[in-house]
Amino acid sequence: MSRLQAEGLYKVFGRRPGEAVKKLESGSDRDELRAEGTTAAVIDASFSVEPGQIFVVMGLSGSGKSTLLRMLNGLLDPTAGRVLFDGQDLTALSPKDLRDVRAKKISMVFQHFALFPHRSVLENAAYGLEVQGVPRAEREKRAHEALEMAGLKGWEKSWPDELSGGMQQRVGLARALATDADLLLMDESFSALDPLIRRDMQDQLLSLQKTLKKTIVFITHDLNEAMRLGDNIAVMRDGRIVQLGTAEDILVTPANDYVASFTQDVDRSRVLTAGAIMAEPHTAIGTQDESGKELRTPQDVIAAAPATVSADTPIIELFTPCSTSAVPVAVTDAKGSLIGVVPRSRLLAVLGEPMEPTVPGLAGDTEAGQQDAKNVKAGRQDAKNVKKVSAGA
Ligand SMILES: Nc1ncnc2c1ncn2[C@@H]1O[C@H](COP(=O)(O)OP(=O)(O)OP(=O)(O)O)[C@@H](O)[C@H]1O
Ligand SMILES: [Mg+2]
Repeated sequence: MSRLQAEGLYKVFGRRPGEAVKKLESGSDRDELRAEGTTAAVIDASFSVEPGQIFVVMGLSGSGKSTLLRMLNGLLDPTAGRVLFDGQDLTALSPKDLRDVRAKKISMVFQHFALFPHRSVLENAAYGLEVQGVPRAEREKRAHEALEMAGLKGWEKSWPDELSGGMQQRVGLARALATDADLLLMDESFSALDPLIRRDMQDQLLSLQKTLKKTIVFITHDLNEAMRLGDNIAVMRDGRIVQLGTAEDILVTPANDYVASFTQDVDRSRVLTAGAIMAEPHTAIGTQDESGKELRTPQDVIAAAPATVSADTPIIELFTPCSTSAVPVAVTDAKGSLIGVVPRSRLLAVLGEPMEPTVPGLAGDTEAGQQDAKNVKAGRQDAKNVKKVSAGA
């Protein structure tokens, strides 16, 4: 069972919201409604988040991200649609039951979240537990542990104004971690931080996630952040989810020009991994090694490959081996078995349009390179034809 499910969620602000939903369902768009004085903040959003996943909602300012998040924890009532948390319909709970779920199972970290200035770091981190009525000794113990996880061991007795912005943000994270909530909702939690600290916080979140395995919904307007953190990403535009998929899906097969325009600034070579772009192992069987000998078995392919990498290797590390050999790079699992191959043409195809060779010999200057260039064009066409799941469609 999914931990969290949104089913056909709508949120309309303004007069006669129910009527507005009907109009949206029959094809009206956001602008038409706005002319009538209503704002369709979220339109027909459906998705599910699996336990232990980081689900990222990405979109420009005003696209409806925060509104969506507030419906996920019941702070806002959907105009239409349902939110299921562990199979339980949040929209059908009594106010008291909803408060209970929210206090015990869901934790929210805001962008401009405030620490209490006259409470110590420890008391701030323990605040969520205090609200739940957890006795002092117990909540201090858990707040200690959470601060340690958030990298703030030793700062328990400090005051908030003695901490840098990044450290204050960590206290916010610790507060959320201390509550033991299964579901963390993070709204632009790192956006106020400068880039280096922000990256650091992303790393910290990813490494915490490896052990804690919470379910996280993370909101950001930054695609690079979305791609670093998200197991799945929903791209929102004007209240609608216009694409739902993995970082690779969004990079390789953007659902439309709007999404594609976001991906221009993303460094594909660092986001994409060998595992995401590799071809089936059998595609290399029957091809030849550098000296013309036929590769008959997976072992032959591994032996002839210019490099052997794991599935999570960023493709930037495949440039050099791919430029030195026509034999594909071998991708193996932890046991050393061949699980895929990355031929040069595949690498070029996913890197997108620019055909300027960034590494000598990678493209253009050899016959194989020119063939690759054709494959790239063909590959891009294919990619454009396979529109990925667009949510709510
Ligand atoms: N309480 C409200 N009353 C009326 N309109 C609202 C309300 N809350 C949000 N909106 C409108 O809904 C739309 C979506 O707002 P929302 O805050 O969800 O966007 P966002 O994607 O979180 O933006 P940002 O990146 O700036 O935080 C906006 O047009 C906003 O003006
Ligand atoms: Mg917002």
